[in-house]
Amino acid sequence: MSEYKIENHTYDVVVVGAGGAGLRATFGMAVKGLSTACITKVFPTRSHTVAAQGGMSAALGNMGPDKWQWHMYDTVKGSDWLGDQDAIEYMCREAIPAVIELEHQGVPFSRTEEGRIYQRPFGGMTTNYGEGIAQRTCAAADRTGHAILHTLYQQSLRHNAEFYIEHFATDLIMDDQGVCRGVLAWDLATGVLRIFRAQTVVLATGGYGRAYFSATSAHTCTGDGNGMVTRAGLPLQDMEFTQFHPTGIYGSGCLITEGVRGEGGYLTNSLGERFMERYAPNAKDLASRDVVSRSMTIEINEGRGVGPKKDHIHIHLEHLGAEVIHERLPGIAESAKIFAGVDVTKEPIPVLPTVHYNMGGIPTNYHGEVVTLKDGNPDSVIPGLMAIGECACVSVHGANRLGSNSLLDIVVFGRAAANRCAETLKAGASQPDLPKAGVDKVLERFKRIHHANGSTTTAEIRDNMQHTMQKHAAVFRTGDSLQEGVDKMNAIYASYQDVKVSDRGLIWNSDLMETFELANLLDCAQVSVQCALNRKESRGAHAREDFPDRDDANWMKHSLAWLDEQGQVNIDYRPVHTYTLTDDVEYIPPKKRTY
Ligand code: FUM
Repeated sequence: MSEYKIENHTYDVVVVGAGGAGLRATFGMAVKGLSTACITKVFPTRSHTVAAQGGMSAALGNMGPDKWQWHMYDTVKGSDWLGDQDAIEYMCREAIPAVIELEHQGVPFSRTEEGRIYQRPFGGMTTNYGEGIAQRTCAAADRTGHAILHTLYQQSLRHNAEFYIEHFATDLIMDDQGVCRGVLAWDLATGVLRIFRAQTVVLATGGYGRAYFSATSAHTCTGDGNGMVTRAGLPLQDMEFTQFHPTGIYGSGCLITEGVRGEGGYLTNSLGERFMERYAPNAKDLASRDVVSRSMTIEINEGRGVGPKKDHIHIHLEHLGAEVIHERLPGIAESAKIFAGVDVTKEPIPVLPTVHYNMGGIPTNYHGEVVTLKDGNPDSVIPGLMAIGECACVSVHGANRLGSNSLLDIVVFGRAAANRCAETLKAGASQPDLPKAGVDKVLERFKRIHHANGSTTTAEIRDNMQHTMQKHAAVFRTGDSLQEGVDKMNAIYASYQDVKVSDRGLIWNSDLMETFELANLLDCAQVSVQCALNRKESRGAHAREDFPDRDDANWMKHSLAWLDEQGQVNIDYRPVHTYTLTDDVEYIPPKKRTY
């Protein structure tokens, strides 16, 4: 290993990722007196949370009556009864103190006339268990993620958390008892390899939207934590559930926030019809995202799409007037101009359902501890390892996430992870030496990929994967198309053995970094498409034309998938948590979902 300069570091906690979840955890750990390092492949305020527009849900009741119990009901219903109800109770209850804390930490929320936090309607968010439309989504104009990210980074610095910026974490270091003991990271600027030892590693690496060709996700959303977990021999959960956001800009995939529909925007087809009235007579354009995305796809498939190819839909906000647009949706006006050439005060924006969010990920409990199915225990905790944010599957979103529950999830569970570590870890506790076999394994993998000398470029393999996922793991799925996707993905997965890295340098080597990222994306895509073929029902975002109904008797359970080095996927199941945490709220039994 003499080829590499290696430096060793020890912290109480190492957080991987500096989006909202990673920063909330980092800040929280540092405040509690734990020595904390945050490793991030991009500058913290460039993490993908910066792109979150519409807001963060919390039943503050600033703009009308609201209760966290109504929020919980909406979230369980939105999840199509795949969400764990203990975790959903925790999230919806803790939303209120979590958002007030953010306000006090300095997030510049938009304000009502009375000076309270401004809240807008969002899809699936209702009052009184589905009766009315709730104004629950706390917004900083249409740049809420940006505002939260900057505040949390500043607070982390203020509390002396240490940052390893532009460092790429490649693998977890596990011992032979299955305990996570640290992580290996590559310093992109100097080429140094850093071995981090920690009492706890917290993965906060975001989603894997870039397994698809068209996504609202940043190009950095490459499932890095998920890949690390599969290589550590641990399962991923519910990876068949991929959310398509109804309004990605046609062509570029850039997000047009659901906040547009929250402020009164609406969708039309080529006949000028507000077609959502037919599909969701009550909620209309504010039905949950899976429902709206499917309705748009049906309109297009039945020949009522707009444009010369009739292959997209229009979203209108002209009627809101320039004043409202510039106060509440300034970022949207800018994005529509740049990416669609549209002046939103005068004309509609061309949009299309676009991959936006991964409901599945690393299974955890509501403290953020990673769990697995072991010796018959479906909630067996992996010591030393936590996961939070989009890379995790708590599961609060189940089969479909409600808009604005993601900024909530990252803040609530980043905070929960910090609280858990404060309870269970002792600051400065001595740590055993790292296991030699575990360290050797991750260094050998680094070297193997660094020197990969096959004949297929990273870009070629990535392109094949992205087009396969886009075509075969789409809004609507069938067994035949998924089987074709599985067959193609098996070949694409195997083609990574023949990958070629052209640049052997270690300083700002984007070729090598993309090759590491591709390995993670392939792991996610492979598990995702096979779990989609395996689940023979329709639930939330997983819409099987050959199994159009939800099947609670056989499928109200989480898929757990292990991936081996040859790309074989083995699937088992964990039960959905059909219990609540406290007597303040009762278990919500499944019923047909209508909007
Ligand atoms: O539409 C949006 O602003 C996205 C929000 C979310 O995904 O939660």
